Amino acid sequence: MKLLLLLRAAAGTLCLVFLLLLLASGWALAAGYVPSEDEAFASVLYWRQAGGLGALLRGFHFHLSSALVVAGFAYLLLTFLADRHHERKAWWLGLTLYLIVIALCFTGFLLPMDQNAHWGTVVRLGIVETSPGIGPTVADALRGGPLLNASTLPRFYTLHASILPLVAVLLLALLLRSGTRWRPRAALYSATAPWLALALVALAASYLAAPHWPAPLELPADPTDSEYIPRPEWYFLWLFQFGKYVESAPWVRSLLLPVAGLGLLYALPLLRRRGAGFRIALAGGWCLAWSALTGLAVWQDRELPPTLMYEQAMRVQAGEQYQEHCYDCHGEDGSGDGPQTRAFDLDVPDLTQEKIWLETQVEEMRAAIRDGKGEDMPAFGRKLSPEQIDAMIDYLETQSRFETQSRTEQNRSKGNPT
Ligand code: HEC
Repeated sequence: MKLLLLLRAAAGTLCLVFLLLLLASGWALAAGYVPSEDEAFASVLYWRQAGGLGALLRGFHFHLSSALVVAGFAYLLLTFLADRHHERKAWWLGLTLYLIVIALCFTGFLLPMDQNAHWGTVVRLGIVETSPGIGPTVADALRGGPLLNASTLPRFYTLHASILPLVAVLLLALLLRSGTRWRPRAALYSATAPWLALALVALAASYLAAPHWPAPLELPADPTDSEYIPRPEWYFLWLFQFGKYVESAPWVRSLLLPVAGLGLLYALPLLRRRGAGFRIALAGGWCLAWSALTGLAVWQDRELPPTLMYEQAMRVQAGEQYQEHCYDCHGEDGSGDGPQTRAFDLDVPDLTQEKIWLETQVEEMRAAIRDGKGEDMPAFGRKLSPEQIDAMIDYLETQSRFETQSRTEQNRSKGNPT
């Protein structure tokens, strides 16, 4: 019992530290974010590519949110196991705060406006919609219409960046004042100082790890690409998997499960006191069900193609676009021997030559692809966006490096000096 209470104090301290840090990093991020359909992605991409404080803060905010979901769950679980959920007010406040955290994850998910954000939110609101009665009204209110549209993002942003954090801070203040045995203020100063030290160590570690674990960002949202398969955050996988079993009766997931589950959680302090055996069975049963559903979801997803991040996806796209638009003249590998060159006797430069890359400015390359060049190089400014043109140049250049490298290696293996 003593150990449980000690662990609970640790989880509580972690929650407090994580929540405060999320609020702080969120405020900092808000300074560089534009909550509009056209610019949200670009502002997030800018952080990612500039790689400075923006990238660091975003990675931090992203990973801390997962950490808070875990720590909050641990706190509630330990409270229940230690039979402290009978401190009703603290239990209800804590539970509600946890739901606010989940709502923050739900709304924050859309903000990067990449493919996963868009399609994931379409799927989630679709689930909300299947809840009989209020479902459609709630989904429409969140979206600002029957479909995801330009007013959805500002709504989510307002919830994520002002309303929900405000509610969270109020709940936190009430929780800190409530009569819980775990006194966060005391914990912060002395009683559980080791836990605070632990939280700081975890923090320092995540600060160091952040550059190596950037927050994900995929291609920008494309509302016409209905083949895209979105993935939920790992801690929502169980719900996603559960949905597969109740496909014919979606209200089981969207109404019955939340009402029954949350109803039970809120009612726990009112129920007759039960022994430790009952508490362990209930908590263990839930953890087992969660793990089994999550494990199954991961297992069934193993055959899906891996998710590509922005840079990789742009390169794959550039390769496809090269085959579609450029191959005819520039040839398979860019050496300038495509079928059209022979047919029309075109003079196409060999882009695999390193010389061309050393002597040509990027701006010239961009202009050539965008506006065309000479008599025979067509303009692609209408077919390719500036980002796609840059990705294409990157693609061509790596191709050329690869070529030069493999030629050098061939020469070496032939014993020629290079
Ligand atoms: C109809 C044939 C044709 C097609 C299609 C074509 N090109 Fe070209 N490209 C040329 C020719 C010809 C030149 C040489 C132009 C010159 O220097 O006068 C050229 C030159 C270039 C250059 C070199 C520009 C420089 O500064 O030297 C680049 C880069 C290039 N093309 C990229 C592309 C890309 C990327 C695509 C596909 C999106 C593409 N080209 C499609 C014919 C073509």
